[in-house]
Amino acid sequence: MSLFWTIWISVITLIVVIGCAILLRLTSKNTTGIPEGEPMPHTFDGIQELNNPLPKWWVGLFWFTIVIAIVYSFAFPTFTANYNGLLNWTSSEQSVMNPDESAEAAKTSQSQYQREMNDADEKFGEVFKQLAYDQSGAYKDIALIAKDPEAVKVGQRLFLQNCAQCHGSDARGSTGFPNLTDDDWLYGGDPASIKETLMNGRNGVMPAWKEVLGGDQGVKEMASYVLKLSGRRVNAIEAQAGEEKFALCAACHGADGKGNYALGAPNLTDKIWLYGGSRKAVEDTLANGRNGVMPAWSKVLGEDKVHLISAFVYSLSLEK
Ligand code: HEC
Ligand code: HEC
Repeated sequence: MSLFWTIWISVITLIVVIGCAILLRLTSKNTTGIPEGEPMPHTFDGIQELNNPLPKWWVGLFWFTIVIAIVYSFAFPTFTANYNGLLNWTSSEQSVMNPDESAEAAKTSQSQYQREMNDADEKFGEVFKQLAYDQSGAYKDIALIAKDPEAVKVGQRLFLQNCAQCHGSDARGSTGFPNLTDDDWLYGGDPASIKETLMNGRNGVMPAWKEVLGGDQGVKEMASYVLKLSGRRVNAIEAQAGEEKFALCAACHGADGKGNYALGAPNLTDKIWLYGGSRKAVEDTLANGRNGVMPAWSKVLGEDKVHLISAFVYSLSLEK
């Protein structure tokens, strides 16, 4: 934070605290010239006000809050980003770090969040290890772990904590966030592909095609062809015009439109849509492109946890 904002905040804080104190002082003094308990010289709808002092307990409480405000300002980081407060408390690592630096900082960190994470890792790390490794010290087969109800439950809990905000607590996803419970995969649904997705993240790039396709009409024709691929009834002439340009798309989606795991290009011939199957949604995808990002988890969670979550995700498509 710059010096300007430091001064700005300090001055406003001081004015407010001192202002409260002055207001309190003034209002607790009898400045009306009327003795305490006597009527004031005004009435409201026939109701008379007596010149009573503020209750002692209320004034005391107000003074107490003013003292607390001052103590708090100095105890916790209040005035500047560089001032950690007398208690040296921080909510998180506030500086921008790369994952290696942040792992290093976590070891010596003062932050409450990091301390709690470290404690939890110490406590539960062993549990994760027991579920993820076999006796020889190698990772257990994910397909095997997926059949161990206890391990799957642990994986599910990790999923709820880390993945549910995007994929939903039932893992069924929503627009832009793939459903993980079906047999349709962008990047492949075998254990190794799932783990790779989780460890290193994925980034699906669907370019914008409006200009290449020749504006709105071209987009409309291509949308008709895409909808036809998934079995919808469309204008045959439009679809034909779209099909003629599908070579543009084949590099990623395949000549038959069935997609490509290596690029995360979805299968266009099924009825499952990542971004919605309405004509409007498809035209929007074609005209403006899409760019889905699945974060990488290897640094955030560590491989043991990722291994267990992979088993949970894999188990979802085994259930049926
Ligand atoms: C910030 C949102 C977000 C979070 C959090 C997130 N994901 Fe994802 N995930 C995505 C998006 C978006 C995609 C699709 C990427 C694309 O479009 O290329 C995706 C893709 C995937 C895929 C690939 C699906 C397929 O069809 O191949 C899997 C598996 C997956 N996520 C699992 C997880 C797990 C497990 C977690 C928790 C550790 C997680 N995700 C956390 C957004 C998220
Ligand atoms: C460079 C590779 C690439 C090319 C070329 C490409 N796409 Fe895509 N397309 C993708 C990827 C990757 C996604 C998934 C985007 C994401 O995950 O965010 C996608 C998504 C889509 C979707 C959304 C599918 C859904 O389930 O919502 C449609 C529709 C689509 N592409 C059609 C086309 C058409 C038609 C063309 C040719 C004009 C084309 N794509 C060309 C890579 C490509």
